[in-house]
Amino acid sequence: MNALQSLDREKLPKHVAIIMDGNGRWAKERGEDRVYGHHEGVISVREIVNGCAEAGIQYLTLYAFSTENWNRPQEEVNALMELLVNTIRKEADELNKNNVKMHVIGDFETLPAICQKELNEAIELTAANTGLNLILALSYSSRWEITEATKKIAEDVAAGKLKTEDINDTLFHQYLNTAKFPDPELMIRTSGEHRISNFLLYQLAYAELYFTNVHWPEFRKQNLYEALLNYQARERRFGKTSEQIQTKTAQHA
Ligand code: FPP
Repeated sequence: MNALQSLDREKLPKHVAIIMDGNGRWAKERGEDRVYGHHEGVISVREIVNGCAEAGIQYLTLYAFSTENWNRPQEEVNALMELLVNTIRKEADELNKNNVKMHVIGDFETLPAICQKELNEAIELTAANTGLNLILALSYSSRWEITEATKKIAEDVAAGKLKTEDINDTLFHQYLNTAKFPDPELMIRTSGEHRISNFLLYQLAYAELYFTNVHWPEFRKQNLYEALLNYQARERRFGKTSEQIQTKTAQHA
């Protein structure tokens, strides 16, 4: 039985978030330029989007370009933007055929105009789809997102649209870029680093974290399903005791 068949479809995370790390190191290990690693990383993106759709995952967020990534050498930034534009242009029809709905989170206006155009077209093309929600985090950082949400809440309070006493966890969530999506239950980071790197800090509060040494360009469906199996073997307690969780599970069995 392969890993996909071993998955318990009743216990799948709704939302998986991935930090796609290790493109540069993978390329360097092969004596290639870092950009080669990003190109190969696109193959993994395609594979994992299909893998999530096949497993029945409803939301997949990919950290494709962080706010901090703007500080990389200009040629690498340009190459990444060009790769993004070409990939979206090439893959939009395929995503649409596969019933994938595309979304973007992040500081959209900071992306080059051509990038914004391709993304907007793909978002529009796939808007009516009902399958996997593919969320690309671009020019994204969680501290930026939280700061922006705080500013908007302050403006709404000042304008009398909101009372300070109405601000709670649920309301705050509605001001985040991810307002339409459930929080990820599983966050995967490839390539051996054990960090969250300014990614979905608010939304990952109760997520299970899974780290693998596999570099992103080598990450395949099988690796994804192993991460999902690992997730399914964990006990999610949300601050409660193991006994409370087991009693609740027995009541629902
Ligand atoms: C991290 O590897 C990867 C990125 C910063 C870019 C990810 C982009 C892609 C996979 C291609 C485009 C994506 C889409 C959605 C079309 P790194 O460069 O930080 O690797 P390193 O840690 O080994 O240096």
